[in-house]
Amino acid sequence: MAVDLLLGLQWGDEGKGKIVDVLTADYDIIARFQGGPNAGHTLEFDEIKHVLHTIPSGIFHDNAVNIIGNGVVIDPVILKREIDSLEKYEVNVRSKLLVSRKAHLILPTHRLLDAASEAAKGKAKIGSTLKGIGPTYMDKTGRNGIRVGDIELKDWEQKYRNLANKHEAMIGFYDVAIQYDLKELEEQFFEAIETLRALTFIDSEEYLHQAIKADKTILAEGAQGSLLDIDFGTYPFVTSSNTTAAGACTGLGIAPNKIGEVLGIFKAYTTRVGSGPFPTELFDEIGETMGRVGREFGATTGRKRRCGWLDLVALKYAVQVNGVTQLMMMKGDVLSGFKTLKVCTGYRYKGETIHHLPYNIEEENITPIYTELKGWDEDLTQMTTKEELPATLIDYIEFLEKELEVPIKIVSVGPDRKQTIYR
Ligand code: GDP
Ligand code: IMO
Ligand code: MG
Repeated sequence: MAVDLLLGLQWGDEGKGKIVDVLTADYDIIARFQGGPNAGHTLEFDEIKHVLHTIPSGIFHDNAVNIIGNGVVIDPVILKREIDSLEKYEVNVRSKLLVSRKAHLILPTHRLLDAASEAAKGKAKIGSTLKGIGPTYMDKTGRNGIRVGDIELKDWEQKYRNLANKHEAMIGFYDVAIQYDLKELEEQFFEAIETLRALTFIDSEEYLHQAIKADKTILAEGAQGSLLDIDFGTYPFVTSSNTTAAGACTGLGIAPNKIGEVLGIFKAYTTRVGSGPFPTELFDEIGETMGRVGREFGATTGRKRRCGWLDLVALKYAVQVNGVTQLMMMKGDVLSGFKTLKVCTGYRYKGETIHHLPYNIEEENITPIYTELKGWDEDLTQMTTKEELPATLIDYIEFLEKELEVPIKIVSVGPDRKQTIYR
């Protein structure tokens, strides 16, 4: 039995949480493989909206086990808050959540370092979510990090202290003033560590190896999106993990030949939060409308998301890097009412027309070339079958399928679980 992957193909917030929740009915295991609480995955059902940051989006179903893999970085304080809020809804998190011992911990000082680094960058800041993601992955690759399994060791508090002291010294190197009360932050942290300690720890590679042998169905859940990948995204305006398909192998301990379907998820337009290039960004009424109708505000930071037309050059790149086998198009409902829709099918770059992502996509280098398609007026949000979809929406979908050479299997027409149409 193979492991299927679900990945965001743009700059994040494609709707991964919603789709993982919808697909969980078909899987025995849902496993997050990278990122941390920079993620905000929104699920809606029974008129209630839930936002998950660390916990996989299969947690509301009783048929599946949820795994936080080794590639994830965990802030125990945020994890505890998530568990508490789920328990209010009577979700028995503890019985169906497993945590890899090899996942790294975000310390309070990682968050402070993130803030200091961003403040020191001034205008050149990444626009990080300030959750300590960059500094934690730096400690991981720098071989200084603290892992979940370490909290079972006798000398763990000393290990913590040594690293926190080093971080405090590092904060001093930045030429910015960061206000903090470490004592208070540490109180919260150590209290949350006890919540973490009460969870079940596993070696995810061994667990998943046995699960594959036992023919369990497994879905790996990505966070962020391909264009935020540390290697293939719009560096340096990226996150600090591999968000692309290969990240699922290293972030869970599954071999590449065990990967089955690669489900790629994208919005019918494009959004981005934080800094960095965005060739099809709109600064006009159309962009405003997308943001308003699509309620485009960050699920983690509440920041307004930048909006623009669908960028097929970037999407094709993401499809290639990930080996996407099936696509899912989200938020088509948000585009209802636009007479004409534009899709970027090429870039004007240094006097030439190109159809791939060049090394540098800063706006002074790139002018998008658009193909115009007819829009649809119908309200899609009440539709439940593919037969109801308007002809112009079908034309839009078929145009994308032809360009991307991958079928679009799911069309999402609203935030609720039920607003999901299979093709
Ligand atoms: P994720 O990070 O990829 O899980 O996505 P987010 O949850 O950050 O952002 C997606 C937003 O769009 C959330 O507010 C969802 O509730 C919402 N959403 C998901 N699918 C649809 C859809 O098809 N239509 C509309 N209007 N909203 C959607
Ligand atoms: P989900 O999983 C959208 C962006 C930040 C910033 C950059 C680096 O909900 O799709 P970081 O905190 O990782 O150091 O920030 O990446 N970013 C996201 N944007 N959705 C996310 O996650 C994101 N996680 C990080 O805005 O530009
Ligand atoms: Mg999100």
